[in-house]
Amino acid sequence: MNFHVLTLFPDMIIQGLYTSVVGRALKAGTIHLEAVNIRDYTLDKHKKVDDYPYGGGAGMLMQAQPVYDAFRAVRKSVYERRGEVPLRVVYLTPCGKTFHQDMARELAREEDLVLLCGHYEGIDERVLEEIVTDEVSIGDYVLTGGELPAMVLVDAVSRMVPGVLGNQVSGESESFCKNLLEYPQYSRPEVWRDKRVPEILLSGDHARIEQWRLEQSLERTSLRRPELYESWVSENQEYFRKKAKREERMRKKEEKARKAAQNACIL
Ligand code: ADE
Repeated sequence: MNFHVLTLFPDMIIQGLYTSVVGRALKAGTIHLEAVNIRDYTLDKHKKVDDYPYGGGAGMLMQAQPVYDAFRAVRKSVYERRGEVPLRVVYLTPCGKTFHQDMARELAREEDLVLLCGHYEGIDERVLEEIVTDEVSIGDYVLTGGELPAMVLVDAVSRMVPGVLGNQVSGESESFCKNLLEYPQYSRPEVWRDKRVPEILLSGDHARIEQWRLEQSLERTSLRRPELYESWVSENQEYFRKKAKREERMRKKEEKARKAAQNACIL
């Protein structure tokens, strides 16, 4: 997968992403990243890329021409490599659709993805109309520019690209726990500041451990993200039917054992 980030701060993108898991995937060639400096495309002799907004108002706007020409340079290189394919262009803006995991999964299917980072008070609407296919926000707060959101998006989308997380791990978890919050995890030592690792995790009983983890995920999700919990419950009715049956079986077994013990006492 190829990410093309249009930005006024290419160093920020490169330095931010050439580390850790994504950095490793970039170095291995599993994914590719170019940060295109919009300023390199301005026709202004002073390298200016911004101007005052018509109608007044605070701050400056990024002008259409340098953004458009930077985009056209990227598109030309993609077309030379792949032919005239449709190109997905994501503009990072607090006015966009809120980013989430399904979006990351979907964007990871693109071979090329162009990310446009705004700065100052935004970008001239005319170029947005011309080139942007998706507007994406990473949350209801306003940052000083689109670079951090673009990095968030590259990270989350990269995890969904096969091979980025290594051989055994899949970011595309189709497990039962999909859309639930992560269960708590523990590593060595077994006791730390008088806190013990939950006994079940030391039992070696993988089926029971899986069950415990799911219960933990459900509990966390219902407490911290009730709306996620509700949608999981409605999509997983079968789980609750099975759970109720299991509990009923356990109850009957305990009842039988209690009666047997009572009878033994009477005799
Ligand atoms: N640019 C500034 N704030 C942003 C946000 N919350 N999401 C995406 N782009 C942004």
